[in-house]
Amino acid sequence: MSHITETRPAKVTAPAIRARKKGPPIVALTAYDYPTARMVDEAGLDLILVGDSLAQTALGYETTLPVTVDEMLAATRAVKRGARRALVVADLPFGSYHGRPDRAVKTAVRFVKDAGAEAVKIEGGAIRADVIRAIAASEVPIMGHIGLTPQSYLRMGGYRVQGKSMDAARELIEDALAVERAGAFAIVLEGIPAEISRIITERVSIPTIGIGAGVHCDGQILVFTDLVGLTFGHKAKFVRQYADLRGTVAAALARYSEDVSSGRFPNDQESYRLPDGVEIEPELEHPESMPPLGPIN
Ligand code: KIV
Repeated sequence: MSHITETRPAKVTAPAIRARKKGPPIVALTAYDYPTARMVDEAGLDLILVGDSLAQTALGYETTLPVTVDEMLAATRAVKRGARRALVVADLPFGSYHGRPDRAVKTAVRFVKDAGAEAVKIEGGAIRADVIRAIAASEVPIMGHIGLTPQSYLRMGGYRVQGKSMDAARELIEDALAVERAGAFAIVLEGIPAEISRIITERVSIPTIGIGAGVHCDGQILVFTDLVGLTFGHKAKFVRQYADLRGTVAAALARYSEDVSSGRFPNDQESYRLPDGVEIEPELEHPESMPPLGPIN
């Protein structure tokens, strides 16, 4: 009989996230690769989103619209290999779930079977209820995302805070209720006034996870590169930057460059040596002392 007690925290599942409506707050972050996923997982965060923000943060696209299913699948596989405990949720990219729900189900199932995703996320409220329902019915846990949905960039004419008028707020509340009714286990609220997120959070029975949506949500999510200071370009008002990795990396690169240029890198400890007893033969060192080659036939 073993007396060893299991101390590793339990694997986070979609039902476990669903059960966090009454707290403690869900701590979520994006990741796009293996080392980041490992660090996020080892830090004990609950949920890792392979966000389609990958398009901008890792692939250098202007918006999230061009990122492909294959690019998202590759990132999801890498994140899954690095995450042991956290729930791995994959964003379905723009165009891969729009239109027919059966196509959306096929995409969602691909993320589970081919990349190991444990849930998927799609953007949109009432307008996507049929897609959410179909994916949930196919046994793939699904997370909603309403408010400032970056895949609606063209329709919105830019990235704008949503729900600022009472009509718009009413529509957002309807969206949240539609996502819940359709079977999502959680919902991301992005770019919404804190007062409206509070009402949504009180009205739905699934957890809300906010980004730029104030403190009243049941959890928070940020983009990894924003949090650690690796983002190029505009920094949104809601971002709290906890580190300056860009500065750290820039300083490291400057020192490396200087060390190579000045001959300080590599040093003896950073170099391999011939084994004891192996001598360099003189003609290796002085090839001009070797007899000339004969004619080549
Ligand atoms: O793609 C992403 O990073 C997201 C988060 C902003 C929630 O969808």
